[in-house]
Amino acid sequence: MGFRTDAIHAGQEPDPSTGAVSVPIFQTSTFVQEAIGKHKGYEYARTKNPTRLALELNMAVLEGGVAGYAFASGMAAETAITQLLLKQGDHAICSANVYGGTFRLFDKIVRHYGVDFTYVDSTNLDSVAAAMRANTKMVFVESPTNPLMAITDIRGVSRIVGKMKTCRLVVDNTFMSPYFQQPLALGADMVIHSTTKYLNGHSDSIGGVVVLKRQDDADQLQFIQNAAGAILSPFDSWLVLRGIKTLPQRMDAHNENGLVMAKYLVRNRNVKKVYYPGLPSHPGHALAKRQMSGFGGMIAFDLGSLAKAKRFLSRVRLCSLGESLGGVETLISHPATMTHASVPAAQRKKLGITDGLVRLSVGIEDVKDLIADLEAAFK
Ligand SMILES: Cc1ncc(COP(=O)(O)O)c(C=O)c1O
Repeated sequence: MGFRTDAIHAGQEPDPSTGAVSVPIFQTSTFVQEAIGKHKGYEYARTKNPTRLALELNMAVLEGGVAGYAFASGMAAETAITQLLLKQGDHAICSANVYGGTFRLFDKIVRHYGVDFTYVDSTNLDSVAAAMRANTKMVFVESPTNPLMAITDIRGVSRIVGKMKTCRLVVDNTFMSPYFQQPLALGADMVIHSTTKYLNGHSDSIGGVVVLKRQDDADQLQFIQNAAGAILSPFDSWLVLRGIKTLPQRMDAHNENGLVMAKYLVRNRNVKKVYYPGLPSHPGHALAKRQMSGFGGMIAFDLGSLAKAKRFLSRVRLCSLGESLGGVETLISHPATMTHASVPAAQRKKLGITDGLVRLSVGIEDVKDLIADLEAAFK
């Protein structure tokens, strides 16, 4: 079926016992068994819950994988991936510019289990190839990156990773959602999302999901989901399912507003630099056009100094100052002190996450109102 149809229907049959069109919230911890070993496919809700299963089946279809698993947060989903792929003595490669929490997980927790990490500029394929070792088990790429919107050639990285049978390419697709980018079709082995962002889309739930290409990986991740237990609740699963039904329409609106806002910012003399892959001046524009079907609603722009960023952020009214992104409402943030505070200052500077950088998650409001808000703040 087409993406819009799948977004609404995949994994979601009307409830057989009542005919309910909306998948019910199965708020239960356990399921009655007729006799020992005789049940309807559900035993205990950490292992399997019908509401969560509907979301997992839906996401597997939207990302084109064999299976999906939903977790309590994007970070819980990433943790499960590290439990699947990395053991003591292994090596992993990660894009140098990823969400600060991803770096924190790898550097402050997983590294202490005896896993060695190399951070590379994954937009440069030679750097990725040069970092590969015989014991490299995971290459983790975020594209576009948070917050600088750098674009990595996923197919190019997958060719490098594919040469080593025991290594897997993981792509964080949170910024694009499967509506604009499908990493498995570009050669990735698994995709992770913070469903907190565009998939849920309404800033009212925290969650994560992993979709996998290989059945053996999927079976192992299902084991980890049950054994480690960081599952998404039935209510949150239902919220995300409901959010996904309008994902295509919301993403189109984010994309449309994103382009207008980026062009407005480029013209504004207070703005030193704008990072948005939809602008022809963006270094990854041509690649973004090839591997994505839209550019999304994430923009970063540099105001030149911390003082200017602080003043500007205290004067916006309609744009809400806050962490997170991907909701229907426009959110604005300061990466250096908020989302990327856990990245050491020297590393932030090297990456270009300056103290004057502001990140905008463009919502789906009337774009003229958003521009008026920025205009008033600039004045
Ligand atoms: C790109 C990206 N990946 C992963 C995460 C982590 O997701 P969560 O906050 O749901 O744990 C975030 C959160 O901001 C993110 O922006």
